[in-house]
Amino acid sequence: MIGDYVSLSLETHLFFGRIMKEHSLFLMAGFPAKNADYIKRADWFREQFEELLREVVELARGRVGNNVLSSGEIVTEYTFDAERRTSFLTGIEIDSRITAQEKALAQEDMSGCRDERNRRIAQLVRQINRKALRLTDGLMEFKEKVLKDMAECCLFTFNYHLLVEHILREAGLYRRMIAELERRGTLDGQSVLEMENFWNRIMMEHALFIRGLLDPTEENLIDTADNFADEYKALLKEAKEKDCMATGELSIKSLKETERYRDFKAAGTKGITEFSIAGLILPLLADHVLREANHYLRLLKEVPATEK
Ligand SMILES: [Fe+2]
Ligand SMILES: [Fe+2]
Repeated sequence: MIGDYVSLSLETHLFFGRIMKEHSLFLMAGFPAKNADYIKRADWFREQFEELLREVVELARGRVGNNVLSSGEIVTEYTFDAERRTSFLTGIEIDSRITAQEKALAQEDMSGCRDERNRRIAQLVRQINRKALRLTDGLMEFKEKVLKDMAECCLFTFNYHLLVEHILREAGLYRRMIAELERRGTLDGQSVLEMENFWNRIMMEHALFIRGLLDPTEENLIDTADNFADEYKALLKEAKEKDCMATGELSIKSLKETERYRDFKAAGTKGITEFSIAGLILPLLADHVLREANHYLRLLKEVPATEK
């Protein structure tokens, strides 16, 4: 159905297009001044994804689901301030008009009110999908190059090796989703178990980055982050050991864990944006991992009742 194709594509880009734009910014901010060519390359991807997001937001009005708009995966109450602070601290430009437009989308609640059978819109979405595929291929290649150069000791960056691997995996999921939309016109995506394993690992790694980037004096927060990492590790282990019959129980455990984790990340984003938490975490990185938790929560809540 054209309607599905249009809305699923736009929803995917609203979340992942922004994620890719921010990965580019984090990479850019992490290179030493010596590596001007890497900084320039990362900035190019940042600009390209920003332009893509601009086009997506234009088309999204009235064409994306309210479940997505209200989930907190596109923007949160902190995104605007987090962008302003990050831009001020790094000197990297961020077009916050996009954020304001996205906020307006969520407030308008015009979901599903447009005629999705419009072939012209489907054509525009196809162009956007193809462009997103090209850009994501390029960004993945760049992330792979960064990893290779780090491993060969010819590149230093303030981003952990695991963080670059992590953002490469997220780009891989985005790429697979757009490719599926182009191939089949819809998204069946991963099985519930695959989805939970993917995102539980992502959540565990966020906890590992957070604990490693907090100031050593933030002992309580470091302990809490360590606990979250352990709890997600246990969920991943359980998923490996149990058979498919137990997935319902795992979904409920993942949901409860991620609700607590989302609250921890929200408090962290507020503290980092207001400079009351010390560490090496850019405000936008804190908001970024909060949005990823919100995205995962929506997926968990939308798991069909038959699979719970
Ligand atoms: Fe990410
Ligand atoms: Fe992530």
